[in-house]
Amino acid sequence: MKDNNGGRQELKKVNICIAGGGSTYTPGILIGMIKKKESFQIGKIILNDNNLNRLEKMGKYSKILMEEYYPKLDLIYTTDKAIAFTDIDFVFCQIRTGGFKMRELDEKIPLRNNVIGQETCGPGGFAYGLRSIKDMIKLVEDIRQYSPKAWILNYTNPAAIVALALDKAFPNDKKILNICDQPISLLMAYSRLLGDIEYKDMIPYYFGLNHFGWFTKIIDKRDGRDITQKIKKMIQINGFAPADKEQRDPSWLVTYSTVKNMLELDSTYLPNTYLQYYLLPQQTIAHLNPNYTRANEVMDGREKRVYEECEKVILHNTTKINDNVEFELNKKDAHGEMIVEIAEAILHNQERYYVVMVKNNNIIPNLPKEAIVEVLCTLGANGATPLPVGKVDTYYKGLIEQQYAYEKLTCDAYFEESYLKALQALTLNRTVVDMVLAKKILDELIVANKDYWPELK
Ligand code: G6P
Ligand code: MN
Repeated sequence: MKDNNGGRQELKKVNICIAGGGSTYTPGILIGMIKKKESFQIGKIILNDNNLNRLEKMGKYSKILMEEYYPKLDLIYTTDKAIAFTDIDFVFCQIRTGGFKMRELDEKIPLRNNVIGQETCGPGGFAYGLRSIKDMIKLVEDIRQYSPKAWILNYTNPAAIVALALDKAFPNDKKILNICDQPISLLMAYSRLLGDIEYKDMIPYYFGLNHFGWFTKIIDKRDGRDITQKIKKMIQINGFAPADKEQRDPSWLVTYSTVKNMLELDSTYLPNTYLQYYLLPQQTIAHLNPNYTRANEVMDGREKRVYEECEKVILHNTTKINDNVEFELNKKDAHGEMIVEIAEAILHNQERYYVVMVKNNNIIPNLPKEAIVEVLCTLGANGATPLPVGKVDTYYKGLIEQQYAYEKLTCDAYFEESYLKALQALTLNRTVVDMVLAKKILDELIVANKDYWPELK
């Protein structure tokens, strides 16, 4: 677009909707936007949520924040879909069907049966998946009614199952990008460990499914050097810890430490932290407290902290009551920046490297073509372009096929409303295995999720 005086190239201002905008992740995203306001210019931000109480707090806080740090920007919050999704360029989807109360049950019901209880892995992820699919399909339909061409950046969990379900429901929609922040969080942690490289300078070769994969090789983009061995050695010597404050709670510290344990037994590739639930189940379950899970930790920690901050800012009508915002603005590589950078890569056709979920086709020729795999891609105006991975070895093929079959059966159970497929899915999950146990957990989950799931017949 040319302007009238001087013919200088003007950047197009984009309109962004955050679906699930009442979430505690919103301030981090807004900070990311403020940091990038020169290169990624935003005209309008809309926070949309179905929980009015959370939305109002976050909305009022956000308006004050943006008036102070991003003048000229129009920020509104609304539960109205037409207002939320009209004339939008990007929708960031971060909804959580059932909220933290249901996350708590996702974690506690398996744990009381002596099975891993986790938000996205095992029966917890299964339960959350059956809840998320319905709301995500509705959300995409609503968005498409008002903004057929908007990019939908989806990081609603459990991403693996949601991505499969969206692919089934909207097979021709090329503007839904399913992406998870954990690979980037891991790169940030490597970067902190090495000290001499930023995560943006890494080319991360990776394969697997979401929350179920490995970095095979990390290249230093600046000189082409392979730094994989160096990272492995550093972890073996110094252990492994998260780089970002979002992951510094006690349970995350344990999670990160398991990477060293996995590497000690098999140092072929650098494992995603989520593999602890599948490869070290005994050790992992011993660290999980059935009476106080991650949901409790988040409700007592991040949820309280963030909404209290919102209330304080609203009361004083300024964010400048402390230096929290300044601190976040001065921090490099903050969590909330990632999603903004992803949108920027698409908008400005940057072809930057990201680990993204895409349809396998022939990326990994010895895995099902229709699987949604998570691999290194370049990200630009046409979305994600995967780099070929090639055939994977028997061990990985076996693990991934089993996990993918579980994911597919979970989706099938939803669409076919099939009790049997649900039972088969849980039986196939490595965290369950026993059919009788799978049935017991399934029946307990059905009762707990009666307001959210389709009726399984
Ligand atoms: C990582 C994962 C997300 C997950 C989040 C949970 O960022 O990639 O998929 O939702 O961790 O974090 P929390 O702090 O809520 O346990
Ligand atoms: Mn994730």
